Amino acid sequence: MAKRVVVLFSGEGSNLQKLIEALPAYGIEVAAAITNRLRAGGIARAQAFDVPVVVIDHTRYETREAFDRVLVETIGRYAPDLTVTAGFMRILTPVFTDLVRAINIHPSLLPKYKGANAIEQSFQSGDAVCGVTVHWVNGELDGGEIIAQASFARELHMTREAFEQKIHALEYDLLPKTVVQLLSGD
Ligand code: GRF
Repeated sequence: MAKRVVVLFSGEGSNLQKLIEALPAYGIEVAAAITNRLRAGGIARAQAFDVPVVVIDHTRYETREAFDRVLVETIGRYAPDLTVTAGFMRILTPVFTDLVRAINIHPSLLPKYKGANAIEQSFQSGDAVCGVTVHWVNGELDGGEIIAQASFARELHMTREAFEQKIHALEYDLLPKTVVQLLSGD
């Protein structure tokens, strides 16, 4: 029986695509891709691989909790072994974090640079070593227990573009690998 993951995203979905491409070789399928944004670029990426897409437009809900309730119910329909948030730009309430076993990819070496501007803050920091983190999702934004990290020694005079490309390259390697490790250990 294949293991199943559900992926939550809000934007381009490049991490989503890497998961869709990498996981089947390990007997893991992306059962669904869920987004809060009708125009998320990741929708087309998921559809290109025939991965079911669900759009839950968060602007249609009065409260974060109401949105999270629908999100949790939708995830439940796919009965995943694990949920992955990859660029899911929503603050999640305990309605979600108390019920859903989820991991998140964050583009900095947590606990440094939590929040939505991690790449910029990390780049501007001048830190000699930078990187990315996979962590459990809990009630604190980017504060859950760290599962895995990948880092690199930034080159002097590295451009912002080269820096971001390196960060994403680390994400594309670390996230699928961590999902496989978590689900093969189960
Ligand atoms: C990734 O860098 C992720 O770490 C951050 O948002 C970005 C999402 O990129 N939270 P994509 O949508 O996977 O291309």
